[in-house]
Amino acid sequence: MASHFLVLGILVATCSVSLASDPSPLQDFCVADTNGPVLVNGLACKDPKLAQASDFSFSGLHLPGNTSNPVGSKVTPVTVAQIPGLNTLGISMARIDFAPWGINPPHTHPRATEILTVIEGTLEVGFVTSNQPGNSLITKTLQMGDVFVFPKGLVHFQRNAGNGDAVAIVALSSQNPGVITVANAVFGSKPAIADDLLARSFRTDTKTIDWIQSKF
Ligand SMILES: *[C@@H]1O[C@H](CO)[C@@H](O)[C@H](O)[C@H]1NC(C)=O
Repeated sequence: MASHFLVLGILVATCSVSLASDPSPLQDFCVADTNGPVLVNGLACKDPKLAQASDFSFSGLHLPGNTSNPVGSKVTPVTVAQIPGLNTLGISMARIDFAPWGINPPHTHPRATEILTVIEGTLEVGFVTSNQPGNSLITKTLQMGDVFVFPKGLVHFQRNAGNGDAVAIVALSSQNPGVITVANAVFGSKPAIADDLLARSFRTDTKTIDWIQSKF
């Protein structure tokens, strides 16, 4: 009987570890073995004796992203996909370029808090709190050197509030923060969400929904 409880205890402990996001590393590092056949929460480690500086580095964040697109911004991510040595470390970063008045549309990172600093230009930024306590908009205009935090999971956005280019550097509390752009997820899913369901959700008619869906 005691052994049953022991097994149950081990199971509960294992589950609580595997359910936690970006669990604390149990070794110096775990450079992702991108060819590994093992599926874990993250990526399997390659032999630490084979780790090299290139597993921990990335070059090119001084280069502007191409903002010639419908939103006028470009994110250059530096996550575990670019740096395999980030695996299990719970951190990543990105550069965001904005054309004049370009936007980074409302989106959420399901696995990360984000901290942003403006290194060029002026940015209007904001996030919206959860339904409780009432979808408050928390917004601010940032100048060069200003820092702003977007709490984990909350819908947030940025806009270049100037006639010149703007650049931000962000850090995120996950090796793989994930991105869900609200408009793309709601109006651009494949297959599409039923237009009458969206019409009722957005308190409008199906014609309007069909028109918006046709843009994605
Ligand atoms: C930027 O992207 C646009 C649209 O895809 C493309 O036409 C243009 O050549 C790109 N510019 C550079 C410098 O890569």
